[in-house]
Amino acid sequence: MDKILVTGGLGFIGSHTVVELQNEGYEVVIIDDLSNSSIKALDGITSITGEKPIFEKLDLKEKSAVETFFKKHQDIKGVIHFAASKAVGESVKEPLLYYENNLSTLVYILKELKKLPEASFIFSSSCTVYGQADELPITENAPVKQAESPYGNTKQIGEEIIRDTCKVTPGLKAIALRYFNPVGAHESTKIGELPIGVPQNLVPFITQTAIGLREQLSVFGDDYPTPDGTCIRDYIHVVDLAKAHVIALKRLLKNKNKSNYETFNLGTGKGSTVLEVVHAFERVSGKKLNYKIVGRREGDIISAYADTTKANNELGWKSQLSLDDAMRSAWKWEQVVRKS
Ligand SMILES: NC(=O)c1ccc[n+]([C@@H]2O[C@H](COP(=O)([O-])OP(=O)(O)OC[C@H]3O[C@@H](n4cnc5c(N)ncnc54)[C@H](O)[C@@H]3O)[C@@H](O)[C@H]2O)c1
Repeated sequence: MDKILVTGGLGFIGSHTVVELQNEGYEVVIIDDLSNSSIKALDGITSITGEKPIFEKLDLKEKSAVETFFKKHQDIKGVIHFAASKAVGESVKEPLLYYENNLSTLVYILKELKKLPEASFIFSSSCTVYGQADELPITENAPVKQAESPYGNTKQIGEEIIRDTCKVTPGLKAIALRYFNPVGAHESTKIGELPIGVPQNLVPFITQTAIGLREQLSVFGDDYPTPDGTCIRDYIHVVDLAKAHVIALKRLLKNKNKSNYETFNLGTGKGSTVLEVVHAFERVSGKKLNYKIVGRREGDIISAYADTTKANNELGWKSQLSLDDAMRSAWKWEQVVRKS
C-alpha cells in the first residue's frame, strides 16, 4: 500500500487521521516535533490499530532536515500536512513565530514534492479564511475576507502558496480542506485533544471545567442576533474529519480530482450555539456545568457554518456523528486524561 507522510501526526486531528489511514491499509510515516503534542499519542495510535507507524521527531522549520527526510523516503506518494501552530491569541502577540512555523514548513515540503514526478498533498486550512461570511451556510465560493489574525493569515497565504505552486507543477495535486470546528475524541479513549495550558477552544474548556481543572466557563455575549443570543459554530467530530482526509487523499491518488488544486469545506452543515453545546454536554454527562454569561469578546464572529454540498457530492463524504457523540467522547477522554 502507498506510503503517506503525516506531518503533525501526533497532534489532535493528525493522530485520528493516522488511525483512519492505517485502517485503510496505508503505510504511515509521522513527522512531529512534539511542540504541541505528546509521544504518548504514538502508543495510543498503536494500541488502536495494532500497528506502530514510523515516527521521526523532526522540526519542519529545519530545511536541511526536511531534505534529508525526503531523500530517505523517496517512495512517499502523499502528504497530509497538519503541522502548524494554531493558537489565534498567541499569533497576534508573536506573528513572526506563526509566519515562520506555518509558512516556511509548507514551502520546504512543497519544494521536495516538486522534485517528484507525481505527488498528492492535503493541506489543513480553516473556515477562518471566510471571516464573517455575508451568506450562510458558507460555500467554497464565499469570498476570502481580510484575516482577523496572523494565524488566519497563514491559512490564506498557505492556500495561495499551494495554488500558485500547483499552477506550474503538473505532477502536484493538492486539496485544501477548510475545517469548521473539530471536536470530540476517538471512542477508544486512546487518543484525543491535549491542549497545553488554558484551552483556546470551547469543548476542552467545558470538559476541563466539568472535571474541576477550571473554575468556570465564560460565555462571551448573549446578545448576538442568534436564537439564544450566543455565537454559532459548526462542530464536527474529529473522527468524521479524519475520515474525510483519507477520502480526499484517495481522490488525488486515483486521479479523480477535477483540477490539480481544489478546496472543500468540512463541517456538518449545522450550526450550534454556545449554549446548545453546553446543554449537549450536560445531557450526555449528566453534570451541570458552571458557566457565566460575560461581555462579548473582541474579534468573535457571530455565526459560521458550512454548506457541505461540494464535500457531499464531489468528495462523497458526509459527517456521520452528532454533537452529542462528540461531547460524550470528549468527556470520556477528559476523564481518562485526568486519571493518567
Ligand atoms: N483544531 C482546530 O480547531 C483547527 C481548525 C482549523 C484548522 N486547523 C489546522 O489543523 C492542523 C492540525 O490542528 P490540530 O488541532 O491537530 O493541532 P495540534 O497542535 O494538535 O497538532 C499540530 C501538530 O503539529 C506539530 N508541529 C507544529 N509545528 C511543527 C514543526 N515545525 N515541525 C514538526 N511538527 C510540528 C505539533 O507538535 C502538533 O503535534 C493545523 O494546521 C491547524 O491549524 C485546526
